[in-house]
Amino acid sequence: METDRQPIPKTTPDATAVWAELAVHAEAIKKTHLRELFANDATRGEKMALEAEGLYLDYSKNRITDETLQLLFKLAESSGLKERIDAMFRGEKINVTEQRAVLHVALRAPIDSSIFVDGADVVPGVHAVLTSMAAFCDKVRSGAWKGHTGKPIRHIVNIGIGGSDLGPVMAYEALRHYSTRDLTFTFVSNVDGTDFAEAVHSLPPEETLFIISSKTFTTLETMTNAGSARAWSVAGMAGDETSVAKHFVAVSTNAEEVTKFGIDTANMFGFWDWVGGRYSMDSAIGLSTMLAIGPEKFRELLGGFHAMDEHFRSAPFEANLPVLMGLLSVWYTNFLDAETAAILPYEQYLKRFPAYLQQLTMESNGKHVTLDGETVSYKTGAIYWGEPGTNGQHSFYQLIHQGTHLIPCDFIAFAKPLNPLGRHHDILLANVIAQAEALAFGKTAAEVEAEGTTSRLVPHKVFEGNRPSNTIVGEQLTPATLGKLVALYEHSVFTQGAIWKIDSFDQWGVELGKVLAQRIIPELEGVTEPALKHDSSTNALIRRFRKAK
Ligand code: F6P
Repeated sequence: METDRQPIPKTTPDATAVWAELAVHAEAIKKTHLRELFANDATRGEKMALEAEGLYLDYSKNRITDETLQLLFKLAESSGLKERIDAMFRGEKINVTEQRAVLHVALRAPIDSSIFVDGADVVPGVHAVLTSMAAFCDKVRSGAWKGHTGKPIRHIVNIGIGGSDLGPVMAYEALRHYSTRDLTFTFVSNVDGTDFAEAVHSLPPEETLFIISSKTFTTLETMTNAGSARAWSVAGMAGDETSVAKHFVAVSTNAEEVTKFGIDTANMFGFWDWVGGRYSMDSAIGLSTMLAIGPEKFRELLGGFHAMDEHFRSAPFEANLPVLMGLLSVWYTNFLDAETAAILPYEQYLKRFPAYLQQLTMESNGKHVTLDGETVSYKTGAIYWGEPGTNGQHSFYQLIHQGTHLIPCDFIAFAKPLNPLGRHHDILLANVIAQAEALAFGKTAAEVEAEGTTSRLVPHKVFEGNRPSNTIVGEQLTPATLGKLVALYEHSVFTQGAIWKIDSFDQWGVELGKVLAQRIIPELEGVTEPALKHDSSTNALIRRFRKAK
């Protein structure tokens, strides 16, 4: 698809006139309570809501007015967000520090569409991999794929880390309701040997299949765990190395390293350098997801992603869910001094969703320089955290309600339960609604006094309120809904990065620690005292660990 190309403005957001207008406007908003905003407009709750692709966003409990929104949309226009979105969909190399296209949207593009990278249409390749994944999954799920000793596979262990783990774990947990119960799924990520040891503790090697998931196939944690898995599996097959062919498959972009490890590339499912790790759960990295829910449901998941992609690409900013959510994040981060954002799913199946979003948001937008390498003079990505409700209510919600930090919250809930059980779902939904209400409106001193509270306790029982939240509502958690929800956050992250003029698709910040660890490993393992050339703290720690060995 060809669109008019507009240059993306180089100006940083804080140098625009609208940024200054927002700063002035924020001073007025800081003095305005949500109680007042709701009192002034009886229809605010219905007006400040947006529904698209089956997801309903109530954003009325945000500390905003119509003017705030107009200014934020103006900021989006001035940042060249539309041009950046088009550039992504055109397959341009918008990951400028790695000179790569950013095309997770191609992973869910329909078979009859075309997206070009360096003049080649990538969509046929995407569908070819999906077809071979489906054939493999059908074989394993039906029992036709036999292990080395002729037994069918009953246990799947995914070994990967970061995007090669968090997406698969989150999706497995989220879609467990739809998963086959004939197979068990375990995920190993940490290089701490305990992770692997506990994962395989009661697994029979003859019925266990390992998926080694690594874009690069060089990641230290994953390759260490993969090596231990191989040793464990081969030992369980009387030391027969040929068993690897039936018990190991790989998901990677690096065929050479996969072959070196001993996995036949016939059992390798590929993807491409234009898929970032944290944007890869719908690529072959989703092999464990497809094994769990089957190829058909996996396609429904992709359909959900695609629906949200199209919405993001084509809806005007005012009616665009990811744009709106992204702009609200910018508003809180840059104008209302929020440092963090809480993700609070009222859906047990989404228990790993906050952890998944931590990588998506913080690895993407935790950046301190612009695309041109200039140090930014404004804050970028917030700190994301969260837990499923209602558990969080009995631990950290106290701080959100009465602490001194402003923490915008995203509540996520579904109208219909997947496991109807007596009154459970009504109680769950009552809680999510109540929390958003309590945060926004609080409880005044007069209300506390009217309850007969002794004056000494009144200040302790006051809820200031004015604490913002979004409430995202879906009908029911399905594979398609999950795809829409993940794409919603992916594109919200994109929106924020476009405003901040940062590269949301590289992750140089993880490199230094990796390099230093490689240097320290031989220092810890060596038999003679190493010539320690670190600082005194690092030296002392190395000596201490060596002595304790
Ligand atoms: O160290 C960070 C990172 O590069 C992530 O971006 C990535 O998801 C993870 O490591 C795993 O990388 P790989 O899939 O190449 O093993």
